[in-house]
Amino acid sequence: MRRDLEVLMDSFVIEGGRDLHGTITISGSKNASLPLMAGALLTDGEIALSDVPNLRDIRNMIGLLEELGCAVSHDIESPARQMKICVQSTKPSHARYEIVRTMRASICALGPMLARRGYARISMPGGCAIGDRPIDLHLRGLRELGADIHLDAGDIVATAKRLAGATIFLGGPFGSTVLGTANVMSAATLAHGVTVIECAACEPEIVELANLLNAMGANIRGAGTPRVTIEGVKELGGAEHRVMPDRIEAGTYLIAGAMTHSDLTIGNCPIDCLLSLEDRLKGCGVGVHCENGTRTTERATVEVKGADVRALRPVQVTTQPYPGFPTDLQAQLMSMLCLADGISVVTEKIYPERFLHVAELSRMGARLYRQGPTVVVHGVKQLIGAPVMASDLRASACLVLAGLAAEGTTNVNRVYHLDRGYENMEEKLNAVGAKIRRVDEGEVS
Ligand code: EPU
Repeated sequence: MRRDLEVLMDSFVIEGGRDLHGTITISGSKNASLPLMAGALLTDGEIALSDVPNLRDIRNMIGLLEELGCAVSHDIESPARQMKICVQSTKPSHARYEIVRTMRASICALGPMLARRGYARISMPGGCAIGDRPIDLHLRGLRELGADIHLDAGDIVATAKRLAGATIFLGGPFGSTVLGTANVMSAATLAHGVTVIECAACEPEIVELANLLNAMGANIRGAGTPRVTIEGVKELGGAEHRVMPDRIEAGTYLIAGAMTHSDLTIGNCPIDCLLSLEDRLKGCGVGVHCENGTRTTERATVEVKGADVRALRPVQVTTQPYPGFPTDLQAQLMSMLCLADGISVVTEKIYPERFLHVAELSRMGARLYRQGPTVVVHGVKQLIGAPVMASDLRASACLVLAGLAAEGTTNVNRVYHLDRGYENMEEKLNAVGAKIRRVDEGEVS
């Protein structure tokens, strides 16, 4: 295993213009796993999760849970990717800046720790490459459950004897909040009385968390809708859960097939959570077919049919909370629209500054014009390989896709960001015909 510092400097060298064919199997979801792991702080029982991907963010969360008194094992050699988490001590309750700074999702430890230990100290997450990411809604929700919260030396300090159920509105200027809903819902499981969250996030990752918490003995109804009702219980026990496949990873590879004009099969695909992407791909003229014709399965085998598409049609797309088009696929879809035959319009309504990829795609010959939260994309016939870099996970994924479709060689620098959220990305793509080499950045500069 190489040292983290060396991995930080890794790049992908991508030889573009190759057809992809074969099957890519989707890993367990990063964004589902992180709050599930934090949920283990709510009990003394053992939480056994399977399909937890081996990713940098997951390793950071393991590090955090260990600091917070948990014993954690993750069997990354077995295909089941079993993880076991068990609280050994409830005394350490400080999520330090050094960890939170590497992963904002550390904030999902706040609700569970507060509810179970009556005290939590978590470094306040700072700014981030995709824009302002406040946590005011998390704090508002926990305060309404009776927590006393103040800021001390950059840390959020939250205390409560026992939380009390309340009716809480979690809507903000950009809709609801996924991790805020996860925090308040988790905390409310151990509160006295009934909590109703209005304007709750409806993302599938919230349904996953509710399923685990209910298996632990909680009483949650309505997860996946804007109104979630939680009847508090005295204590929660251990449980087992299989993590859902990663809808953003699946969406990224569906777009890869479409934009390289390939027929690609995606296994373990949560197509029922990707209808907004399927709709936009159809708008571009790309068919998505499910084995057995069913879209209602969480783990489908799906074929994206790009080979017979002569020219991709342009489309308009606006990111929205689930079930709208996900912000986490905006960059990847834009990459594809750079090659559509006409003018597309992309509007970002969740993170209006999430456009780090625009300047980098332009370096590859894309014609993009940004006005505030909207980018007008004039399709070009060909992207040309270039050295590029983006300091955000999804923007980096979009550059890999652009590199696959481009003429010539693309160097995507600092793939460290990709390692946070895509399991074995170059291996999965190379297995279906891509040509990607991981090298030390010094080798290509
Ligand atoms: N917001 C507030 N106040 C808050 C919280 C959020 O105004 O207290 C705003 C945000 O600034 C944003 C919107 O509400 O405009 C939605 O943010 P949300 O809280 O839902 O984001 P999150 O829960 O912090 C998760 C994912 C992100 C994904 C967003 C939106 C995890 C670990 N992260 O973040 O994933 O973009 O939901 O779907 O689940 C990624 O995987 O690359 C990633 C960034």
